[in-house]
Amino acid sequence: CGIVGYIGRRDAAPLLLEGLQRLEYRGYDSAGVAITGKTGGLKTVKAKGRVRELDAKLPKRFAGTTGIAHTRWATHGAPNDTNAHPHLDADGKVAVVHNGIIDNATDLRTRLIAEGVEFRSDTDTEVLPHLIARSQAPTLEEKVRDALRHVEGTYGIAVLHSDFNDRIVVARNGSPVVLGIGEKEMFVASDIAALVSHTRQIVTLDDGEMATIKADDYRTYTTREGSRTAASPETVEYEAASYDMGGHDTYMHKEMSEQPEAVDRVLRGRIEDRFATVHLGGLNLDAREARSIRRVKILGCGTSYHAGMVGAQMIEELARIPADAEPASEFRYRNAVVDPDTLYVAVSQSGETYDVLAAVQELKRKGARVLGVVNVVGSAIARETDGGVYVHAGPEVCVVSTKCFTNTTVAFALLALHLGRIRDLSVSDGKRIIEGLRKLPGQIAEILAGEDEIRKLAGEFAHARSMLFIGRVRGYPVAREASLKLKEISYIHAEAYPASELKHGPLALIEPDVPTVAIVPSDDLLEKNRAALEEIKARSGRILAVAHEKQEKADHTIVVPQNEPELDPILMGIPLQLLAYHTAKELDRDIDKPRNLAKSVTVE
Ligand code: G6P
Repeated sequence: CGIVGYIGRRDAAPLLLEGLQRLEYRGYDSAGVAITGKTGGLKTVKAKGRVRELDAKLPKRFAGTTGIAHTRWATHGAPNDTNAHPHLDADGKVAVVHNGIIDNATDLRTRLIAEGVEFRSDTDTEVLPHLIARSQAPTLEEKVRDALRHVEGTYGIAVLHSDFNDRIVVARNGSPVVLGIGEKEMFVASDIAALVSHTRQIVTLDDGEMATIKADDYRTYTTREGSRTAASPETVEYEAASYDMGGHDTYMHKEMSEQPEAVDRVLRGRIEDRFATVHLGGLNLDAREARSIRRVKILGCGTSYHAGMVGAQMIEELARIPADAEPASEFRYRNAVVDPDTLYVAVSQSGETYDVLAAVQELKRKGARVLGVVNVVGSAIARETDGGVYVHAGPEVCVVSTKCFTNTTVAFALLALHLGRIRDLSVSDGKRIIEGLRKLPGQIAEILAGEDEIRKLAGEFAHARSMLFIGRVRGYPVAREASLKLKEISYIHAEAYPASELKHGPLALIEPDVPTVAIVPSDDLLEKNRAALEEIKARSGRILAVAHEKQEKADHTIVVPQNEPELDPILMGIPLQLLAYHTAKELDRDIDKPRNLAKSVTVE
């Protein structure tokens, strides 16, 4: 979900709507806005659906220089007008927008109902405006602190009160809130994407911290004690242009096309030719500690989990440390054994995914060492981990991750090389990998240049009933990610399987309208993979191979440039991003905002 707030001299509504549009990728099943101004009173408009529906519903005169707004990804309650934020108290004086989940909402609701409060929505959020309105404290800040004392769970909130219309009060606990400092105007948001077209001066709140913003002033303080905290603005480097489509028809297309320069960025300044290794400044892991690691456990969700699977193999191959990846969402619920000799690595594009953050917090509670492989600088997971590697993919807006996946796999290659070189990877292998890394941006550009061919193939695959993606060892995570990408944006059912397991089940699915995409690198497993193609062909299955050379058994081969075998997985997924994209386009899907999904899942 996304939050925006504005206080200043300009009309708030258009600024809030513009901010919401920039945040829409974070949730888009309903949106709403509340405004107040000099004349007092509070006006609210909400709409089911996209921000444009909200825009269409705004009355012509919706003036006011202070306001808050929200775009939602439903957790509690169906996506409709009443469940959309802002939520109000009974007198319509207090408006609250909220990201996160209030764990004890049911208890609080029962208590408030017993006290005579009438609820309008099914959301957990609605307890907040009622609690705030019922507080007897004299100031808005104290009323909010009073209310939050009763609340268990996670939140990023912004509060507007018509009796205190010179300010917006915000609070953060587990769900991000940033302040944007302007000239005689202030902004708040859950994500800097909503602010960067107005200001680069950003204050990031910590968990347990609140802030009051007025048109020409802001202050931050602790939620519990209300004591002042020092928060000075930082200048953020992201250009507003990163959030524009730049001539592409979708963010996904733009972000795929940015991959050569994104990979260049993750490598920049890190390669140390003299020692055939890499320097990772933020790792915070000295050579002695690195040598004592006996296992590596990588945790992430969705596409980041798949990047972690690629990373685990690289670490095993290059550093010879047993490594595996697991969905963070599973790990945190299974009371895993936390081992002091294991290095834990949390992977996240946004650095906010709640399941990953919760896994990190649990690991830290048990004394583990946790590194982050994260894209968003200064995000919750980046701050919560002991050190890590920034992925430097730049802002990613499309809900499905492309350039960040690629950059994360490259970041893992760097980590694997670094660990390898202080363990037993030879100088010549170190050099070989470095040469391979340097080739990546050019090779990615070469793959992207083949887009026309893939567009033609997509026309065929758009009519598939279901699709199978297979790969073996290094190719398996590539197949997993390609299958996820296709189902996310085209809604075609797809399943990924290790090619070696084909004969133990999925062969039964092979039919002419269930095509197979096979990852077939020319590595030591080439013959084995060819045998899998034979098995499919013998059952009249259609095959698209992604390979280093034309595959006779396949109906089509997308030939990709060859790198070092350990790095090939980074490249082999890229044509399949394009395949998913063009298949979804053929089916006229909403590519940047697939149904039912959101970019960052900051709730459980
Ligand atoms: C959501 C998104 C996925 C993403 C996952 C993890 O489910 O829809 O595209 O891979 O979250 O996000 P993260 O920001 O932690 O990488």
